[in-house]
Order: sequence, then structure tokens, then C-alpha cells
Amino acid sequence: MTSRVTRTQVVIVGAGPAGLLLGQLLQRASIDAIVLERRSAGYVLGRIRAGVLEQGTVQVLEHAGVAERLHAEGIRHDGVEIGFRGRRHRIALHALAGRSVTVYGQTEITRDLMEARAASGAPSVYEAEDVALHDITSGAPRVTYVHEGELHEISCDFVAGCDGYHGVCRSSIPADKLATYERVYPFGWLGVLADVPPPWNELIYANSERGFALASLRSATRVRCYVQCPLEDRVEQWSDARFWDEFRRRMGEGIADAVVNAPSIEKSIAPLRSFVVEPLRYGPLFLAGDAAHIVPPTGAKGLNLAVSDVFYLHEALRDYYRGRSERALDDYSVRCLRRIWRAERFSWWMTRQLHQFPGDAFARKMQETELEYLFESEAAQKSMAENYVGLPLERAT
Ligand code: APR
Ligand code: PHB
Repeated sequence: MTSRVTRTQVVIVGAGPAGLLLGQLLQRASIDAIVLERRSAGYVLGRIRAGVLEQGTVQVLEHAGVAERLHAEGIRHDGVEIGFRGRRHRIALHALAGRSVTVYGQTEITRDLMEARAASGAPSVYEAEDVALHDITSGAPRVTYVHEGELHEISCDFVAGCDGYHGVCRSSIPADKLATYERVYPFGWLGVLADVPPPWNELIYANSERGFALASLRSATRVRCYVQCPLEDRVEQWSDARFWDEFRRRMGEGIADAVVNAPSIEKSIAPLRSFVVEPLRYGPLFLAGDAAHIVPPTGAKGLNLAVSDVFYLHEALRDYYRGRSERALDDYSVRCLRRIWRAERFSWWMTRQLHQFPGDAFARKMQETELEYLFESEAAQKSMAENYVGLPLERAT
């Protein structure tokens, strides 16, 4: 639908989980917003991403009214396993931290949000090209985009930059107004999606001499598996047979025998990076999700952080439009960053604990010793469990 909206309260750039969820939360708070997405809806839905939800994320999706299918199809996990030296050690998440995680694909969440938005009739423009922000510091921000060859302009009060790491919103902020923190890891993850029943009941993160591997799932009939691979590798170098053979070697006996050479329905290599930009606000422009931070996937925090950002942003906008105050808008960046840095630290720690870092014998000794301590110490396991299930979402005061 080509909308001729020329004025709205909030322009949301990006229809990933962050943008769509913010759109849904604002819609339910009767705040007008339009979502502008560069790609087609089909393309957005076709992206394969992770799928481990913190309890806080499930609560936000319930609050947004999009948790029905999640409750019907999501799989609750009360624990997670760590493989090391041929043995598996279970971390009893629920017993240690009082909360669980839910396995439900990010693609499914995106689909639920897209359907909810279409059903609400709230405006979205897919294939919106050349999105550009104007007069951001003037107090009267405008956003322009091209759709089906026609230029459109929207004036608004606020812009939500939910356009991911490669989006236009963060790059619209003058570089001297931002502090950037980054760590790029010297390896990638080769991921395979396959329609075969998972021979594991909970996720298994394996630290093997040959490198990291992860046994995950999407449903009772679909697995999602990863192996650490050199960054320069290309997917063509990895036949399904080679992938499963390597996966077996890293998972160890107990699992290897149950793994079949299932044909992959998706196979891709993703780099690993830790990235944070500060602050998350520049006048009326608010960054959320991957536009502001990237975590390596080892801690399963990417989607959960995007959800907490937009939850805080929707609370702040709701307070503003209900004439209550601008305080939550002013606090938005600090509030998000407290949670972001904790998730960054945990994701970095998980990555450091579970991967092979070439040529650092001392780091390897530290890794092994810390894993042995983790398996022996309930206090260490409790700390890991607490972070894995997600730190509680602070509610606006
Ligand atoms: N104009 C309009 N849309 C854009 C632009 C642009 N210039 N640039 C990017 N986009 C769109 C992308 O096409 C994408 O659909 O913004 C969307 C950003 O979505 P995501 O990258 O999924 O980011 P986010 O919604 O923050 O979700 C974070 O995604 O990558 C995972 O691990 C990450 O789980 C986390 C989640
Ligand atoms: C996934 O299921 O794709 C997945 C799960 C846990 C992670 C990363 C990815 O830490």
C-alpha cells in the first residue's frame, strides 16, 4: 500500500523484529507510527536468525498481544548443556535462576508481528528506497523515501532507528556525537537448518579441540546447528556431509551416533562481532536493536536486547504523549545501555569460553580452568544461568 501519510508521530525505519515490535506496542498505545522497510516483506521473512527467548521477551510479546502462536508452538527449556572433553554438563537454568528460556524462531516472531500489523491496518511501506532523515536537530524532523519511483516526505515528532547494523539512521548522526566500541572475532559460524527431529532435548554448546559447535532446534522436526569456521571459508567449501561429519566430531560420542546426514534447507556463514554505540539518542532520533549494538550469537542475546530496547522506547514515548514527562525519553539511552553492556559482557564471556582462539596457549589454559570451575561451582553456574535466562526487565518508575 503506497501511503500518502505526510504527518505522523513516529517514523520507524526498519521492519525487523525491533521495528515491527515497536510498531505493535505504539499501535496498542494509540500512538501513530509508520514503518518504512527497504526490502520486501517476503525478503524480511526469508532471513534465518536465532530463536532463544528470555522470559522477559515472552512477557513483552504477550504485552504486545502477539504471543498466541508462541505459546502454542514455542518449546520451554529449563536447562542448557555445555560439552567439553567428550562430556556434557547441564546448567539447570530454572532450578538456578528461577526462569526458563523458550525456543521459538525469530522468523516466526517476525511473521506474527507482520500479520498483527496488517490486521491492525497501521501503515507500513515495504520496498521503501533511499530513506533519508532531514532536519533532525531542527525540532521538526522529516523523513523522505522513494516508493515505486515516487518521492514521499513525512514530517514527524520522533524517528526510531530500527534499521539494523547497516542502516541509515546511525550513520545520520555526526560521528563526533557517538562513541563506538567494537570487537571482531577471528572466526565465523557456519549454520545449517535441516528438517530432522533433534536428537537433543536442550541446546548443547560444545567446546572441542576442533572448535566450537552448537546443537539447537526450531521444532520437534527441525534442527539448527552451527560449527565454528575460519572467516575466509565459503559455504561452497562445506558440503552437507562435511558439515555433519565435523559437527559429530565436535559434539562427541553421546550425540554423534544419533546425528544423521540430513540435507540442509539453509546454510550460511556469519561473522562474530561485539559492537555498541553510545548514546542511543540524538535529538528526536532513537536507535534500537542492531542499529545500536551487535552481540556474538553465543549468548543468544541479539533478539532479546532488541526487544528490551523497543519496550523501553515505547514506554518513554507513551509517557511523553500522555503528557506525563520527557524523563523516560531522556533516560532511554542510559537505561538501555545498562542492559546492553551486561548482555555484551555475557556474550563475550560465552564466546571466549567456548571457541578455539588460534595461537594463545595461555588463553586456552584460562578457558579450560574456567570451564572446570563452572562445572564444579554452583555459584558460577548460577551466574551463567542468571545471564542466560536474561536479567529482569526494569519497568518504568
Ligand atoms: N531503509 C529502510 N529499511 C532499512 C534500511 C534503510 N536504509 N537499512 C536496513 N533496513 C531494514 C533491513 O532491511 C531490516 O529488515 O531494517 C531492518 C533491520 O532489521 P534487523 O537487522 O533484523 O535488526 P533488528 O530489528 O534490530 O533485530 C535484531 O536481528 O540480527 C538479528 O541478532 C539480531 O536478533 C537480533 C535482531
Ligand atoms: C539458534 O537456535 O539459532 C541459536 C540458539 C542459541 C544461540 C545462537 C543461535 O546462542
